[in-house]
Amino acid sequence: MRVKIVASEQVMGCEAAKIVQDEVARNPKAVLMLPTGGTPEAMYEHLARAYSQGRVTFARVTTFNLDEYVGLSVEHPQSYHCYMQDRFFCHVDLPPINAHLLDGNAANLAKECRDFEQKIAEAGGVDLAVLGLGRNAHIAFNEPPANLTSRTHVAMLTESTRQANARFFGGTGDVPCRALTAGIATIIDCRKILVLACGIQKAEAVARAIERPVSAMCPASALQVHHKVTFLVDEAAASCLHFKSNYRYLEQARRSLEVGR
Ligand code: F6R
Repeated sequence: MRVKIVASEQVMGCEAAKIVQDEVARNPKAVLMLPTGGTPEAMYEHLARAYSQGRVTFARVTTFNLDEYVGLSVEHPQSYHCYMQDRFFCHVDLPPINAHLLDGNAANLAKECRDFEQKIAEAGGVDLAVLGLGRNAHIAFNEPPANLTSRTHVAMLTESTRQANARFFGGTGDVPCRALTAGIATIIDCRKILVLACGIQKAEAVARAIERPVSAMCPASALQVHHKVTFLVDEAAASCLHFKSNYRYLEQARRSLEVGR
């Protein structure tokens, strides 16, 4: 596991965008798994700018989104369909047919989840997944206690997640109680994983995910078994890590190796 600590949320967004751009430059047909929420907003801004300046094209990229609320229409301003349209899709050249989002209003939610897994398999799997992190260490909407072997499924949101997301709605009461979400096993199957976290309210979750034992009570800790995971966190989110100086040292060593090549 690689842990990269950066000065601020803006730097995190810029570095995350660079990682996505590098992936797409290496493989123009890259398959990406993408998050929503407050954390990745800066990343999407940087990606939109890079596209407008001709530094990246998404013309052959395929995307899957990690989750969607149950019961919101795709036109609902707080749906993740709308979020992706506003923050990313309308700014870049990704063909709409290549963008896959779960439909939280599907008549048969179990089938919607199965079809999503099927589409990922047909795309050849995911090259790079970008994740945010919940305050309770959820990834996508895999809430604690999480089934660490789950595939895409319908999840109940915890009260704390609904409270955290109330800022996007009128209040906690307006936040849906359920969501469709990629499962932990769906995420672990992705070839590379980038986890983003910023702000002091994520510090405890970051430390538990990286430095404590793997546990259903800390869904993000499941990422410890993956061989290509990078946590990209700002100083505030890194503040509960015990081995911060080790991570900095390893990053420096990595950089000097890259320069020496
Ligand atoms: C959203 C998602 C969630 C968020 C998490 C953090 O697609 O997968 O796991 O990443 O709830 O949300 P923010 O970034 O708003 O703190």
